[in-house]
Amino acid sequence: MEFIKVTEQAQPSVALIELNRPKELNALNKQLMEELRDALQALDKNEAVRVIILTGNEQAFAAGADIKQMADKSAIDMLVIDQFSTWDQIRKTKKPLIAAVSGFALGGGCELAMMCDMIMASETARFGQPEIKIGTIPGAGGTQRLTRALGKAKSMELILTGRFLAAEEAHFYGLVNKVVPVEMLLPETFKLAAEIAQLSPIAVQLAKEAINRSFETHLDEGLAYERRNFYLTFASEDQKEGMKAFVEKRKATYVGR
Ligand code: CAA
Repeated sequence: MEFIKVTEQAQPSVALIELNRPKELNALNKQLMEELRDALQALDKNEAVRVIILTGNEQAFAAGADIKQMADKSAIDMLVIDQFSTWDQIRKTKKPLIAAVSGFALGGGCELAMMCDMIMASETARFGQPEIKIGTIPGAGGTQRLTRALGKAKSMELILTGRFLAAEEAHFYGLVNKVVPVEMLLPETFKLAAEIAQLSPIAVQLAKEAINRSFETHLDEGLAYERRNFYLTFASEDQKEGMKAFVEKRKATYVGR
């Protein structure tokens, strides 16, 4: 891996992926995204990992898709390269994926953070979709996910002007889960990850799927999907253990079966 760094057990059951192209503010070129896809697919299969954290560095989570790589491309080149198909594979990650964002999360960087299940932000985090300033528009979900998170008025403002959203404002609008001082970003994110990692990984996966379904379908279908996943948890040892432990007034131990 040239552009990302993977630590499988950064803390017990929690993997850490660091975007590692600092000179280019972690601009997301094709290779980086392919490495990220490969790493996520491997971690998804790794039974020792229950939660994955994705982060950048203090200066930037990621400043967008790599403009230098795209600048000269024709529409047909873009269609043939189809760089966002890699992003679709990343979106299929089954385990909880938490973004820990410091500094710039712009364009594809903002879109990548929004593809994660939760976003922890440092006080220096700045989110935005500034593609309009370089004569294009968001292409990896920004117009859809930002609008779902912020509502129409604020998304229109951000996407049509290219303005940035500061961390506190992002928190106000519900784009991020929590804002913390820079030095607390990873410790707080690991704390959140550890809380999830001790729970039934089967229930966590089914809950994640059901929540995501709410963005993709109407209420009837979403409710049916949730109910199916709820019933399915009763096929797991973890559900038996969890409910038994509650009745016996002890802490449950979840094995992921
Ligand atoms: N692609 C390629 N290189 C990038 C980059 C990007 N998205 N963002 C920053 N870089 C590079 C810069 O070119 C510069 O490289 P050199 O030293 O070789 O010149 C290096 O990173 C440092 O950047 P700056 O000197 O510009 O740093 P700054 O602190 O002055 O400004 C910034 C920071 C405001 C984030 C500015 O770099 C910037 O505006 N970047 C582009 C943001 C952007 O437009 N993102 C959207 C990209 S398109 C997209 O993402 C489409 C999509 O939907 C997927």
